[in-house]
Amino acid sequence: MIVLGIETSCDETAAAVVKDGTKLLSSQVASSVDLHVQYGGVVPEIAARSHIESINAVISRALYEATAQVSTHQLAINVTRNPWDLIDAIAVTKGPGLLGSLLIGVMTARTLAIAKNKPLYGINHVEAHVYSNFLTTSDNAKKINPGASSRPPRPQFPILSLIVSGGHTQLVIFNNHFDYRLLGQSVDDAIGEAFDKAAKIIGLPYPGGPCIAQAAKKGNPLKYDLPKAKVEGPYNFSFSGLKTAVLRLAQEQAGGDYRMPSFEIPPLLNNQQRYDIAASFQRVAIETVVEKTVRAYRMIKPKTVLIAGGVAANQELRSQLSLALPVAITYAPANLCTDNGAMIASLGCFKAMAGQRPDDPYSLAVNPSLKM
Ligand code: KG4
Ligand code: ZN
Repeated sequence: MIVLGIETSCDETAAAVVKDGTKLLSSQVASSVDLHVQYGGVVPEIAARSHIESINAVISRALYEATAQVSTHQLAINVTRNPWDLIDAIAVTKGPGLLGSLLIGVMTARTLAIAKNKPLYGINHVEAHVYSNFLTTSDNAKKINPGASSRPPRPQFPILSLIVSGGHTQLVIFNNHFDYRLLGQSVDDAIGEAFDKAAKIIGLPYPGGPCIAQAAKKGNPLKYDLPKAKVEGPYNFSFSGLKTAVLRLAQEQAGGDYRMPSFEIPPLLNNQQRYDIAASFQRVAIETVVEKTVRAYRMIKPKTVLIAGGVAANQELRSQLSLALPVAITYAPANLCTDNGAMIASLGCFKAMAGQRPDDPYSLAVNPSLKM
């Protein structure tokens, strides 16, 4: 089962080809992040226009790269000159995400499914993040993802998944493919959003997550005492209070009070203050998700604990969680933690292999607020 996955839910235009849900044959990502930097966040109209400009090239490259992989590694698949002969089905993100961005991917996938006569599967982006962890070693995958060689073994059900991205913070237990239960989630901001906002307050560029992580390396994580929110429900999260606490701390360190507008703060901070705020924020944000994950682990005793989504690329999260749990945690290489087409293709493969009915290519709709 070879599936082409298409992902356009936010600012990454991505396409990838995956075999049997686990073998990565190709992965292409074109990001419009550079166009958003000057606005300090994703501008939906710019993201959508950029998807239109990139999507055909990204899909073509993913198809040709997959064909080359198949011929080089002789994966016992008949290769012809037409890369579409490789593809058994198309999977596309139908939500959640930005409306205009989702529409480009879904309309492209619908058109291709009709024109090339392939079954089409609409995919939940958040659920798909978990499937980056099913993409494990094969010689060709190692070549595409050098990190793959050191990957832990494939996840085993029941799987406790901590999904941490720019739009979501969720603890989900998967008893099997498609059989999952939401244990808890953020009641306000997502953790990635909190990283992005904290970065903006102290004058670091968008996307803030990797910049905070870099700055934190030079800072003292115990320098400032930031609050950890108390929320109802054993597995729920909250990050808006932490974000406000970072704002107050930055205002104070910049020599002002709560009335100081946030755009005045960055030039008034020195680098060490910036590093210490970044490190202290990161410690508390990560501790918050680690505590709840450990609690869920003790209750449920899953076979696998995995982290997924853009924030799963964070080293502090990986090491804090590894130290706090008696089992090894599973995570994907950084380029498969952030948005990509491979996770969409992988979940599409599992749906097709389970015999799920494909979606109607004439009517598959986007759903910007799709839930798990
Ligand atoms: O999964 P993703 O690519 O997109 C969404 O589905 O939201 O996640 C993007 C988020 C952004 O908020 C970004 O700042 C964060 O992931 N991120 C990180 C790191 N790399 C990306 N956060 C913390 N540490 C990182 N190394
Ligand atoms: Zn995502």
